[in-house]
Amino acid sequence: MREMVLVGFLQAQNCTTLASAWRHPDARSDFTTAAYYQKIGQVLEAGKFQIGFFDDRLAMPDIYGGNPADVVANGVRVVKMDPVVTLMAMGLGTKYLGIGSTASTTYYEPFDVARRFQTVDHMLGGRAAWNVVTSVNDGEAQNMGRDVHMDHDLRYDRADEFMEIVHGCWDGWEADALVVDKQSGLFAHPEKVHRMEYRGKFLKSSGTFTVPRSPQGHPVVIQAGGSTRGKAFAARWGETMFVGYPDFETARRDYAAMKSSIGALGRDPSKVTINTIAYPVVAETRAEAEDKWALIDSLYKEVDGLSLLSEALNYDFKKKGMDEAFSDEEIEGMSGMQAMRDRVVEKTGRNPTVRDFLEITRRGRPREAIIGSGKDIADRLEKWFTEGACDGYVIAGTHTPGTFEDFVKFVIPELQRRGLSPKEYKGATLRENLGLEIPDVGSWKL
Ligand SMILES: Cc1cc2nc3c(=O)[nH]c(=O)nc-3n(C[C@H](O)[C@H](O)[C@H](O)COP(=O)(O)O)c2cc1C
Repeated sequence: MREMVLVGFLQAQNCTTLASAWRHPDARSDFTTAAYYQKIGQVLEAGKFQIGFFDDRLAMPDIYGGNPADVVANGVRVVKMDPVVTLMAMGLGTKYLGIGSTASTTYYEPFDVARRFQTVDHMLGGRAAWNVVTSVNDGEAQNMGRDVHMDHDLRYDRADEFMEIVHGCWDGWEADALVVDKQSGLFAHPEKVHRMEYRGKFLKSSGTFTVPRSPQGHPVVIQAGGSTRGKAFAARWGETMFVGYPDFETARRDYAAMKSSIGALGRDPSKVTINTIAYPVVAETRAEAEDKWALIDSLYKEVDGLSLLSEALNYDFKKKGMDEAFSDEEIEGMSGMQAMRDRVVEKTGRNPTVRDFLEITRRGRPREAIIGSGKDIADRLEKWFTEGACDGYVIAGTHTPGTFEDFVKFVIPELQRRGLSPKEYKGATLRENLGLEIPDVGSWKL
């Protein structure tokens, strides 16, 4: 029977995707310690989640108002530690959980990313994943020594080359290249270790990769592009995907379209799982869950939404009055997450205001919280999963580790009882737990 993929949406930060999460009375505050991440990993593992995944951005959301004072004072996602290092700490405190981290194709070098993730994959016995992003804003550009962020579609064109180099690196060592035979003195078969020469329009790399193939071949590639260009990139490269479907009908439509785009490229759509964000708020009874939700919603501040919108759309929302409409030129100038911008323009049917952006995106608050008992949540997750809207869920926390503890306590037993989520891990590697085969060298080439 088909089982859903469950991903814990994690941050190496002071909060969840909700800036308000750190204000929750039950949120732990030791977010700079390994113990905090290991605890979350152990909770996810108890629930047989396939992946814990760390989001990332290479800057504070301080585009809003042009200085960091507001976001620092309010703790609006200002702590962002290195997610790969944090991933390792979590990995060493767990045994089966697949663990992924985000890394940017725009600001890192492909050899570096290939080597770092392949190393982590070895260290964790084949449990690593890489969430490929092209990054979103000028804050990231400036931290990384550039003036402005590269144009939206161009950075995906460049990312295609980046992926070819990374996969070229990962293909450097055939699976049985390593021998380490002290008797014969043969360390590795030279005919099975290949030098790469790559020259593209944007990037080049030549050399012999320095990390052997890992127990699952190479890390699993996660992708979450939402724009037209981003989706084409996801269909080409993603081995599992993250999406934020806003409602059931859109989900069914976009899910079918993505599966068909994957198939059109000659890839097997049934192997590529598509997982949509969910914000569950769960308790023993629906009434208790409603109370929990009321508390969570009360923790939100307007500065959370405005600074996270500015971050995502690479535009300072403090420049406009709350009910002032953006001009065509200003809308065009929003160069971050264009799928988000386009949705707001489409929903309003006119030039939107700041308030429209806040209300439609619900940035900084759960967009589609699912509130109820374990059975209520399981019903909702089952519906989308069985009726062609997704293959799994990226479970986002309202506070940590509380959200994941509640989910594992109230929802997982219900999902397992219905045969919708696994009772045991299928194997030691992430690929085994996602039903993915170990890739052959070169199998990524279309
Ligand atoms: C669950 C999920 C997690 C994401 N994590 C990140 C992240 O860590 N860093 C990032 O820059 N973008 C992240 N994104 C955003 C996407 O990679 C992408 O930028 C966004 O969907 C907008 O699409 P576009 O870049 O194609 O315009 C995430 C999206 C989703 C749905």
